[in-house]
Amino acid sequence: MSKKYFIKTYGCQMNVYDSSRIADMLKNQGYEETLCQKDADIVLFNTCHIREKAAEKLFSDLGRAHLIQLERAEQGKQTIIGVAGCVVQAEDEQIVKRAPYVNFAVGPLMYHKIAGILHDIENKNAKESVINTEFPADSKFDFLPENKSQGACSFLAVQEGCNNFCTYCVVPYTRGAEYSRPVAQVLTEARRLVAGGTLELNLLGQNVNSYHGEDENGKERNLAYLLRRVAEIDGLKRIRYTTSYPADVDDDLIACHKDIAILMPYLHLPIQSGSDRILKAMNRRHTSGDYLKVVEKLQKANPDLRMSSDFIVGFPGETDDDFAKTLEIVNKIKYIQAFSFKYSRRAGTPAAVMENQVEEKVKKERLAVLQDLLFDYQTKFNQECVGKVMPVLLEQKGRHKGQLIGRTPYMQNLHVETKDDNINKIIEVKVTSATTNSLSGKEI
Ligand code: 5AD
Ligand code: SF4
Repeated sequence: MSKKYFIKTYGCQMNVYDSSRIADMLKNQGYEETLCQKDADIVLFNTCHIREKAAEKLFSDLGRAHLIQLERAEQGKQTIIGVAGCVVQAEDEQIVKRAPYVNFAVGPLMYHKIAGILHDIENKNAKESVINTEFPADSKFDFLPENKSQGACSFLAVQEGCNNFCTYCVVPYTRGAEYSRPVAQVLTEARRLVAGGTLELNLLGQNVNSYHGEDENGKERNLAYLLRRVAEIDGLKRIRYTTSYPADVDDDLIACHKDIAILMPYLHLPIQSGSDRILKAMNRRHTSGDYLKVVEKLQKANPDLRMSSDFIVGFPGETDDDFAKTLEIVNKIKYIQAFSFKYSRRAGTPAAVMENQVEEKVKKERLAVLQDLLFDYQTKFNQECVGKVMPVLLEQKGRHKGQLIGRTPYMQNLHVETKDDNINKIIEVKVTSATTNSLSGKEI
């Protein structure tokens, strides 16, 4: 009987992608996936460090995994516990100090080593916990096995790491410097995914629009070039890219929103704050005015384009007036979706040691006000969709029999009654009702 693995993923889409590549690697080694942790010979936590409590969540999950490890040991079964991702990069030795039963821990740039590490542990070549948090000279992407299709919607990492050093953010420290995968490697992976049934491809990167990979002739190419090449793949119906940095949106990329019919009319472009003073303290390379200009150009290129963003409230030094400017930008852009967070102090980042930290109570109040406004715009947009016909990519079964759930071009969840065979297909749906979080429709 083949050995089983269980992976729990925390955090961003990059982590979801990484987990799927780790799963491919394990399947290649003959392991099988299980969704039940108690049945797993290998339990892996792929962690996130972007905001606080992530590490605490990990340690409580690890405690539970340890109990299962002990229980299984009584039945004569070995359980290997591993930790991957950004918490490892930030906490490394702390993990095995606090949880000595963890067998291995690998940083986000070293997960291609997992198969070898497992081999050593299973064969008792590794007596102690193995920790690997190197920033390697070679790209892990060169060592991973071929990826399997993730279904009709797939992620594809084209860029990793970040050189921006926003003063609140751990990513430049946990994921390291920017790295872009070569064009040919991305295209090979994209073609394989499409051949395996992918209809929608989401090109991923921490700062995806700073992509600068080499083409087949060694020439450096930008994201616009990559998007145009990916768009040529036969059978691909939808393209998205995320996450973009406002100051790196160039005219070439803007033109893609006019020229590429299958580029979806929804863009996640985080502004973080509407106050120029705070943006400066965050070390962002743009003002709110620059951001508005970029959005204006993008919407000129494609008038159907709608925006989403990330926001941080309560960054050190944020006054009521600064916060009011954030609300102002929301009223101008009318985001159709957004993620908003209370500022969270991350050790090792410049903002963590700024003196003018904002009180928790104020952060909480501002977050509630901001989220109310964001939800209003989200609800309004969803309601405007009622009566419209939209192509919907059906991804999963709904709660009721005969119901499937899919995504509109604007990333809204939509429920529709249709035959189960339509899963992983795009069908035309007339939207009949809307709430803040989802739409319902009728197949036409
Ligand atoms: N505190 C709160 N939010 C943060 N983000 C990143 N770092 C922090 C932090 N220290 C948010 C930003 C980013 C998103 C992925 O997470 O809004 O765009
Ligand atoms: Fe973090 Fe800023 Fe880089 Fe985004 S652009 S990953 S927020 S440092």
